[in-house]
Amino acid sequence: MVKNKKTDVKKEEETPEEEVLFVSLRASAWSEFYGQENIKKALQVAIKAARKRKEPIEHILLYGPPGLGKTTISHLIAREMNVNIRITSGPAIERAGDLASILTNLEKGDILFIDEVHRLNKVVEETLYPAMEDYALDIVIGKGPSARTLRLDLPQFTIIGATTRIGLLSAPLRDRFGVVHRLNFYSPKELEEIIRRGAEKLKTSIDKDSIAEISIRARGTPRIALKLLKRVRDFAQVHGDGKITKDFTNKALEMLEVDSVGLDNNDVRYLKALIQKHGGGPVGIETMASTISEDISTIEDVIEPYLMQIGFIKRSPRGRVATKAAYEHFRIPFEQDSKQKPQQKLI
Ligand SMILES: Nc1ncnc2c1ncn2[C@@H]1O[C@H](COP(=O)(O)OP(=O)(O)O)[C@@H](O)[C@H]1O
Ligand SMILES: [Mg+2]
Repeated sequence: MVKNKKTDVKKEEETPEEEVLFVSLRASAWSEFYGQENIKKALQVAIKAARKRKEPIEHILLYGPPGLGKTTISHLIAREMNVNIRITSGPAIERAGDLASILTNLEKGDILFIDEVHRLNKVVEETLYPAMEDYALDIVIGKGPSARTLRLDLPQFTIIGATTRIGLLSAPLRDRFGVVHRLNFYSPKELEEIIRRGAEKLKTSIDKDSIAEISIRARGTPRIALKLLKRVRDFAQVHGDGKITKDFTNKALEMLEVDSVGLDNNDVRYLKALIQKHGGGPVGIETMASTISEDISTIEDVIEPYLMQIGFIKRSPRGRVATKAAYEHFRIPFEQDSKQKPQQKLI
């Protein structure tokens, strides 16, 4: 059975066009995977040790905002361990039976990649516990008093779970992952490497300034850096001879409504709503979600992590607060006390 690179689920965050792009641009060796040095080192030690012992690698949990390389790392691990990787996701495994059929079809050493692992349902999750701990499945046969449990042995395998929401993972599930890594946003320098390699793969010529410009406008995220690169390349092809220069880069980024620090339309809507409609906060997440008509999960997974990273918002017990830096970015005067006034009037 050919299981390698088999995809059971369509990822919601990628349109088909991007998927093709990212398959072709996906880092296919550790040497093409830049940054996240600590994670890379730790994983390489774990891989080497497992290979030495001729055992599967421990279960691994990767978490962090979308587009930082969780799926890519999983493929790289499979490649280095020289094993098959089977790809699925939390919501795709609906019943315990679905999980059983996936697990019983694995071969020794195989990797099962579960994307959005926080979205596994309770029953499936509980079936997973003994599978992860003892490589066994407990199957209940029959109903009522005559019901029996049958223990089914599984081949030794590795689960790699990926999630954008570690907080939503139950403690028992989290504890069953021997290795847990949080992926961080990338520095512009690291993104520059990724963009340079992407341009090479796309056989596109790009100047240094353009690489630097895209790198600071990519929200610290490789997926966005590569997406912008491709859009800028399109622009240069339509308006010029295909060579990416600073002029094309600036015009293309302007057209794409990516601002000088990489904020996109959604980030700007979020910040402006927070500052102009809610006096800079504190505002609860539900209120923010309804103000900008956006999902709470999109706000928490995609919009806020980066705004927090660059220090434009803070979380307080009473809700989100815009910082002085955010006001300055939009050239809106920042008055520390003004936010308190309406509340004082109410008293
Ligand atoms: N550190 C990196 N170096 C090079 N390319 C990367 C890196 N991290 C991510 N990418 C690229 O960015 C895109 C998105 O990465 P992906 O692994 O799908 O992110 P995630 O699964 O965390 O959402 C892929 O094309 C991938 O090859
Ligand atoms: Mg992914």
